Amino acid sequence: MNPVKQIVQEKYAAAARQAAAGQTACCGGSQSGDAADPITSGLYDEAQKLGLPEKAVLASLGCGNPTALAALQPGETVLDLGSGGGIDVLLSARRVGPTGKAIGLDMTDDMLALARENQQKAGLTNVEFLRGDIENIPLPPNSVDVIISNCVINLAADKDQVLREAFRVLKPGGRLAVSDVVVRGHVPAELRQNMLLWVGCLAGALEEQQYRSKLAAAGFTGIEIEPTRIYNVEDARAFLAGHDVDVDAMAAAVEGEFVSAFIRAAKPAPALSRPAIQVFDPALCCSTGVCGVDVDPALVNFSADLAWAQQNGLSIERFNLAQQPLAFAENPTVRSFLENSGAQALPLVLRNGEIALAGRYPTRAELARWAGLLPIAPATQPPGPCCPGSSCC
Ligand SMILES: C[S@@+](CC[C@H](N)C(=O)[O-])C[C@H]1O[C@@H](n2cnc3c(N)ncnc32)[C@H](O)[C@@H]1O
Repeated sequence: MNPVKQIVQEKYAAAARQAAAGQTACCGGSQSGDAADPITSGLYDEAQKLGLPEKAVLASLGCGNPTALAALQPGETVLDLGSGGGIDVLLSARRVGPTGKAIGLDMTDDMLALARENQQKAGLTNVEFLRGDIENIPLPPNSVDVIISNCVINLAADKDQVLREAFRVLKPGGRLAVSDVVVRGHVPAELRQNMLLWVGCLAGALEEQQYRSKLAAAGFTGIEIEPTRIYNVEDARAFLAGHDVDVDAMAAAVEGEFVSAFIRAAKPAPALSRPAIQVFDPALCCSTGVCGVDVDPALVNFSADLAWAQQNGLSIERFNLAQQPLAFAENPTVRSFLENSGAQALPLVLRNGEIALAGRYPTRAELARWAGLLPIAPATQPPGPCCPGSSCC
C-alpha cells in the first residue's frame, strides 16, 4: 500500500476506536486539550443530530456539512467518499428516503465496522457501506446522482484519480458536493506544511485554483468553491507552538489563507436533441413584419420569438412563399397542404417534418416547449406604432 494511505488508515483506525469507546474522535494534531476543535466541532445543528446514534456524532471528523448544502432529493442515489463513522451517509439516507439510497465508501475497517453499527442503531435500510479506495471506486459508471465527501479528498495521494473516478460513477447531469480544506493564495512551504498538519492530519490540501483545474481536467463543469470556515493562527496556536513555529511571526502570512470550503461541480448532461422547425410563410414583402411604413405587430413579435428560440438552440428554417416558392413545391407535406387548403391557410409550421401548426405562428411558450426549455420570460411586446391609432411610422 502507498505509504500515505497507510498512515491515513492507521490514524483513522485509531480515531474509529476512540469513537467506538465513547470518546470524541480526533485525528492527531487538530485537537488541543479540552477545547472544542475549530475544524470538526459545531458542523451539524441540533435538529440534524436528533435521532443519530451518539457514536456517529462522536466519530464526525469532517470539516463541513455537505448534506446541508447539496440539495438532495427523494429517490436519489448518494455516494459519500471516505464515509468514516457514517454521519453524512445517515443524514443523506434520511433525505433521499426509502426510494433512494445512500452509499458510504471507506478503506478503514474500524471505520466501516463503526459505520455499520451506527446504521443498525439508526434503523436505516436504504444504506450500504462499501470497503474500498476512493481512487478506485467499486461502482459501475453512471450509477450515482450525487457524490458527497467531507474532508477526505485533501487526504488522497492521487487527487486527479479521485476526481476522475467521481466523474466516472456520476450519472450525466449528476452533482459533486464536497466539503474540503482549501488553501488560498501563496503561503511559504514550511508554514503551509505545519498548518496543514494541524488542519487535516496530513499536509495534502489543494490551492483553490489547483482544485478548479483538477475538477475541470476530470470533465466537471459549473465549478464553485465557497468558503464555509476561515482559520487563523489562533485556531492553531497550541499545535504550532509544539512544532517549533514562531506563531506571532507567521500570523500575517497565514491569516485567512486556510479555509474549509464547499465545492460544487457537475457532470454535464448530454445536449438535448432538439427538433428541427420549419416555418412556411404566406407571400410576405418582409418576414420581419416591418415592411416600409407598414408594421405587423404579430409578425414583429414572432420574429423576436424566433430569434430567442434560435439563441436557445432550436434549429429553425423559414421560407417566404413570395421569395422561395421552390421550397414549398419541393416539400411533399407542404405541397399537399397547399393543394388541400390553399395559400390563404398559411403560415404552416413543421416540426421534424410533421405538421405542428397551421394558420398561425407558434407562441414563445410553444417554441420553448418544443425546445425542451424551462419556464420562460414573456415575450417583450414590440413598440407600438409611432402614430397612435394607425400603422404609419
Ligand atoms: C477526515 S475523516 C472523514 C470521515 C467522514 N467523512 C466524516 O465527515 O466524519 C477521513 C475518512 O476518509 C477515509 N479515507 C481516507 N483516504 C481514503 C481513501 N483513499 N479511500 C477510502 N477512504 C479513505 C478514512 O479512512 C477516514 O474514515
